[in-house]
Amino acid sequence: MLRKVSSAFLFLFLFASLSLYFSSSGPAYTSTEIRLPSANLIAISNIPECSSSYSSFAIKEDVNYHTRLVASIQDSSGVKSVSVLLPDWEVLLIVSPESTSPLTTSLSGNGFLCLYPNNETSPARFSGFLPSTNQTTFKCGLPKRNRRRLPFFPPILSRSAEKGFPVLSRPSEPMLRWTSLAYESFSTENDVVLFVKGLNHRQGINLPPEELACVFIDETSNNTVRTAVTTSIQEVFRCQHPDLTSFGYGREGNGLNKRIKLSLEIHQQGKSSFTMPSVAYYSPWRKLETERPKSLLCASTMVFDVAKFLREWVMYHSKIGVEKFVIYDNDSDDDLMKVIKELNQEGYNIETVFWIWPKTQEAGFSHATLYAKDSCTWMMYLDVDEFVFAPSWVNSLQPSADDPMLKSLLQKTQRWSNPRPIGQVSIRCNEFGPSNQKTHPLEGVTQGYTCRRKEDNRHKSIVLLDAIDHSLLNAIHHFKLKEKYRTKLVSLEVAVVNHYKYQAWSEFKVKFRRRVSAYVVDWTQGLNPLSKDRAPGLGFEAVEPAGWEHKFCEVRDDRLKLLTQRWFEKETMAGSRKAWKI
Ligand SMILES: *[C@@H]1O[C@H](CO)[C@@H](O)[C@H](O)[C@H]1NC(C)=O
Ligand SMILES: *[C@@H]1O[C@H](CO)[C@@H](O)[C@H](O)[C@H]1NC(C)=O
Ligand SMILES: *[C@@H]1O[C@H](CO)[C@@H](O)[C@H](O)[C@H]1NC(C)=O
Ligand SMILES: *[C@@H]1O[C@H](CO)[C@@H](O)[C@H](O)[C@H]1NC(C)=O
Repeated sequence: MLRKVSSAFLFLFLFASLSLYFSSSGPAYTSTEIRLPSANLIAISNIPECSSSYSSFAIKEDVNYHTRLVASIQDSSGVKSVSVLLPDWEVLLIVSPESTSPLTTSLSGNGFLCLYPNNETSPARFSGFLPSTNQTTFKCGLPKRNRRRLPFFPPILSRSAEKGFPVLSRPSEPMLRWTSLAYESFSTENDVVLFVKGLNHRQGINLPPEELACVFIDETSNNTVRTAVTTSIQEVFRCQHPDLTSFGYGREGNGLNKRIKLSLEIHQQGKSSFTMPSVAYYSPWRKLETERPKSLLCASTMVFDVAKFLREWVMYHSKIGVEKFVIYDNDSDDDLMKVIKELNQEGYNIETVFWIWPKTQEAGFSHATLYAKDSCTWMMYLDVDEFVFAPSWVNSLQPSADDPMLKSLLQKTQRWSNPRPIGQVSIRCNEFGPSNQKTHPLEGVTQGYTCRRKEDNRHKSIVLLDAIDHSLLNAIHHFKLKEKYRTKLVSLEVAVVNHYKYQAWSEFKVKFRRRVSAYVVDWTQGLNPLSKDRAPGLGFEAVEPAGWEHKFCEVRDDRLKLLTQRWFEKETMAGSRKAWKI
């Protein structure tokens, strides 16, 4: 069984690398030839998973690019910020904490503009707070006129465009690009984890740690400390903590009130070394003041605009034993925060991490393993349209607190005698079709979708956080484990994921557009036609195919529908509707 899983895993990697190799849409990207960014990305491969929204990419066109660290710019009202150009001509503004402006104290305040050096403007929208630094971010568009000429200069955040772009703030450096950036960091007790885009290829070549160093730069004195990098895989780099006494601080960072920027330096033989542009900062590790008991089982997911689905997903999974939810929010602009607040008030335990970086789902999952390490033992990685259930629960009248469904599943797997303990439990997915629904079923997805494809497809995993390999390597929803642990793929009789993948057209359309646009610049383009993420037979256009509501329906499967009906019956009677219906 184990062999099967690991070879499947290997196959995914091979598949991805091959499709990468055979694609002729862009120049090859190798470790010795680091191409720096342009917004012009071409998608050429992806790895199948229960559902995945990710791809590899090659860079089509280079721009002449000078490596530098970022100097932030300030307008007359005192809002200093750094800008990063995201895909689809979106600009992310990260407000510097030293901004003195009263404007930034009313953070989520509206009425901000992005004002560009040529006096073009676009409305700026509050986005969220970055996880490690708690810096405020805004997003705005790059005006059409500004897209025509390189370099793209950064805007300032302003209340008004009346006075024009302040002469003193004229930027001399172009905007940062999301494709080449140190974007987040996380300090553990023993080391520092740095997330960097644009160095290692996604499923391919990783730069050897010996060619890298972490650089810590005190922004006020420019004192710099370098430490060795211990692992370099995907977008995750680990290095040693700096000796803070060299910055003139106490060993534990006492008195540390200056910001220490963190980046990676690349030294390759025969080439001049360079430092990655960075918006990441270092913070020393601090011991939690109070040791809280760990939750046995948590769930983590990355979401965008899923407010409508979240309540059902949280209530259901709580009932089967998930104690805490860690939600990575990719800048949702629906009611997500409101729903989460309500659920927390009702006693559910949901934490959110703002995760805005494009195409960083694996990195986000790696981040979650660090973030949740102190509070969770096992972590389940699942999407919001996926529901885990065990066929043996079908006869259970009501899960009780002492019969924590999923937990017993984990315990059961542990009992099987094998010298190598299980570090990851993988569960196969059944893919449900529109089941005759024409709109989002108000009673919830578990009630509305009851017809599925016959064959199961892909799997999702519950992973023991202590078992994860130091590199944090993962292909979405599946981690590399330390040597001594193994992965157990359970049979469909033991547990299954109901994946409500092909929902009513009105829902699917939204997902489809977003998903396809994750691969190609123009999502109607016919690239990547064999991707498992495309709906079979759907083609490249978000036009409702004839008979959509009857598609992907080979087996009627209402096991979860009946189960949840029974479990949530009381709530149903109380309000003549499911407990999660809003
Ligand atoms: C982050 O910043 C916001 C606004 O400045 C503040 O309300 C919030 O308490 C901060 N959170 C943390 C964890 O410091
Ligand atoms: C921007 O507007 C200001 C004030 O109207 C004007 O002085 C300045 O020349 C303008 N700059 C550009 C590049 O047009
Ligand atoms: C630190 O370096 C920056 C960028 O090179 C420079 O603008 C600044 O003046 C330097 N600060 C000090 C204190 O040397
Ligand atoms: C977040 O959303 C943006 C915009 O749709 C997308 O480009 C990006 O890939 C998403 N990020 C992740 C981690 O899914």
